[in-house]
Amino acid sequence: MKHFLNLIDLSGADLDGLLTEAARLKLAQARREPTASLKGRVVGLVFEKPSLRTRVSFESGVAQLGGTSLYLPGNEVGLGWRESLADFARTVSNYLDALVLRVFQHATLDGLAAHSSIPIINGLSDWSHPCQGLADLLTVRELFGTEKGKTVAFVGDGNNVARSLAVGCGRLGAKFVLACPKGYAFDDKFKADYAARVSADFPAEVNDPFAAVQHADVIYTDVWTSMGQEAEREERLRRFDGFQVNAKLLAAAPKHCKVLHCLPAHRGEEISDDVMDGPACAAFQQAGNRLHAQKAVMEWLLR
Ligand code: CP
Repeated sequence: MKHFLNLIDLSGADLDGLLTEAARLKLAQARREPTASLKGRVVGLVFEKPSLRTRVSFESGVAQLGGTSLYLPGNEVGLGWRESLADFARTVSNYLDALVLRVFQHATLDGLAAHSSIPIINGLSDWSHPCQGLADLLTVRELFGTEKGKTVAFVGDGNNVARSLAVGCGRLGAKFVLACPKGYAFDDKFKADYAARVSADFPAEVNDPFAAVQHADVIYTDVWTSMGQEAEREERLRRFDGFQVNAKLLAAAPKHCKVLHCLPAHRGEEISDDVMDGPACAAFQQAGNRLHAQKAVMEWLLR
């Protein structure tokens, strides 16, 4: 059974094919061409955490492909505590054709995938955010014609979003640089996975955001305090001081540099209003691309 849990599970050719199909689906949607690749299919969505982009883009995407979606609040299905992950997976495999989940623990996805006879799609876990990574790569491709040889400077925490994008860049020939305070770089497990499965050439990690953006085609940022890290908020605000993506940082990058953000943004923290609302920012194009990237993923899994 094919799942979509981490970008590292996909080859460069898989990713390239998904991006090509996402671009085709985007054009078809703009032309209002009817598409029925998910006709008769039902996709379940289980969310243990809040979401705007992921939930709405999946529900819209399923509808646009002629299928039906079913939202299942995480606190009602009770993954792993109301019944075992194995029993849940075996049960819903009888009713659904695919299941999208946003979970606290990535282990929940692995536990479900091990017992599911339908594809499991990671709609964000503490480890990775592959749907976001795919939409990010689609946006870079749209902005520059190709991602190959481009430099993405991620200014922020070495988190789930950064891991997925770093892998996607590594697979498709883009350069990824992480700029973060000491103690917030990629963890050893990710470094080992990357070395074993992507490349021995690990993305650069620097503590100076100005050095990171010097040759950047894209500056990427994300919130400094993710969902579930609220207790660390004050400490993180202090540690990430100086890492805001603002006009001064953007001025240190090449003139053509674009700014991406996975959203939601904490304006005034990791990104300033003037950059967020300025001409370099492509975050809403990027948010829109979640729809097309995920439609390509669902087709890839269900066709
Ligand atoms: N970027 C992202 O996953 O957005 P949501 O949390 O709103 O789904």
